[in-house]
Amino acid sequence: MNMVKKIDFRIMLENQQNTKTVYINTIGCQMNVYDSGQMMAILKARGFRETSAPEQADLIIVNTCAIREKAVQKMASFIGRFSGLKRKNPDARIVVAGCVAQQLGRKIIARFPYVDIVVGTHAFPRLPAMLEEVSAGGGPLVETEMTESLEKTDTEMLLEHHQTDISEFVTIMRGCDNYCTYCVVPYVRGPEISRAPEDIVSEIKALVRSGMKEVTLLGQNVNSYGKKEGLCNFPELLEKVNAISGLKRIRFVTSHPKDLSDELIAAFARLEKLCRHIHLPVQSGSDRILKKMNRKYTADEYLDKVRRLRAAAPDMTVTTDIIVGFPGETEQDFKQTLDLIEQVEYDSLFAFEYSDRPDAPARRFKDKVPAAEKNHRLKELFAFQEKIARQKQQAMVGETLEVLVEGESKRQQKLTDKDSQAPLELTGRTSGNRIVNFFCNTDCDLDIRDFKGQIINIKIENAFSNSLWGIPAETASTAHQNKGGYVYVA
Ligand code: SAH
Ligand code: SF4
Ligand code: F3S
Repeated sequence: MNMVKKIDFRIMLENQQNTKTVYINTIGCQMNVYDSGQMMAILKARGFRETSAPEQADLIIVNTCAIREKAVQKMASFIGRFSGLKRKNPDARIVVAGCVAQQLGRKIIARFPYVDIVVGTHAFPRLPAMLEEVSAGGGPLVETEMTESLEKTDTEMLLEHHQTDISEFVTIMRGCDNYCTYCVVPYVRGPEISRAPEDIVSEIKALVRSGMKEVTLLGQNVNSYGKKEGLCNFPELLEKVNAISGLKRIRFVTSHPKDLSDELIAAFARLEKLCRHIHLPVQSGSDRILKKMNRKYTADEYLDKVRRLRAAAPDMTVTTDIIVGFPGETEQDFKQTLDLIEQVEYDSLFAFEYSDRPDAPARRFKDKVPAAEKNHRLKELFAFQEKIARQKQQAMVGETLEVLVEGESKRQQKLTDKDSQAPLELTGRTSGNRIVNFFCNTDCDLDIRDFKGQIINIKIENAFSNSLWGIPAETASTAHQNKGGYVYVA
């Protein structure tokens, strides 16, 4: 049965005079970032104000990740900070949400008795009602029921309370049916469920109306979007999103290599808003290990897909995820992973030491790789990739790249008043997802708002391991042309 309920935010608004503050700490992937945004909007609609100081907050939420043991430890050390909080503010509430909440449920209360609410990955829309119940003396509460479909939220109402950025995430599907043997996601996020295309499109349109220029569509395996429900397929959804006027760029994560279709490869060549970047997690270069991981492709099949992607879009940036030290991984298996990295020449990658997860079957696999060996392999892999990435970044010097400007660079944000004479440094990303920083000439009185959200051409002058640096190419930007005659000099 499909349990789709519409939340009535209007009732919640009756409590607007309430000015309690909320702090959300988000650990984990983009899905959690999206969910935290939704939680924040739901709570703002209820009268809460966001604060950046957890110690002073009336409501502290930690949105947790269970993917590796380190992420769980991160949660524990964050919650541990608040053991004495209730002595100072007896009305303060502590909520554990997300994937660890789903996984451990009541065990979290046993370990941290001062936690008021544990709310799983499907239940967070019910948080306001749970808070009321706790205030009425009903705590602590644990809600980890997995409804078949998430409760349908009111997009317009959520957006009214959402601070929209130039680039935003939109979840198009939840859960996962792939059951890779190392992975906890299918257990903590439940089975795959796709949202209806019209809901996704209307959410994106609303975000575009409030200033978003780039959307990243989220799913654990976007290639299986819509299949179960008989909705449109993923390339068809991309087509619908591509048609949204005012939207400048589309990205997506994550694409499972086994399901990457020719139709999706063709979409890269066809859809002008689709960014030339694919994150294609390979996990290992050894067929033996890939089989034990239940990934359902071989290294050769993977390489063939990369070749076809690059044939369709030669400037495509390719990135990946790799696990080192999966149970049974030999030195030879590991070398095969390095070989694959060398063949693909990734622009960048994420690599992780294998971590046993409760629920995931690999926990029971034999021949565990010792911690020191996993660490050694990880370091070797990073050093190996570093050389490739440096060459790739260096090859950008002299190129003129289209950059969607997101705002002030990190360095600019750290500047103090006494540095106010320094030229304004802005940041943005290329279609291939490379970070580009550049100066906006201080001789011109151009405001940052003239750049933010614009795609402008930047001539790359310098390359670093994680970013590029350049100057606006004179003839390129619409901002430039519209303003008439400004000269940009670095
Ligand atoms: N759905 C995505 C992955 C999401 S999890 C996909 O299939 O590609 C993000 C990454 O975490 C994975 O790609 C994997 O590299 C890593 N990961 C997942 N479980 C892990 C574990 N038990 N130990 C170490 N890394 C893990
Ligand atoms: Fe985990 Fe595999 Fe699903 Fe990705 S596809 S979320 S790695 S089970
Ligand atoms: Fe972590 Fe949950 Fe994402 S386990 S990686 S936050 S889906």
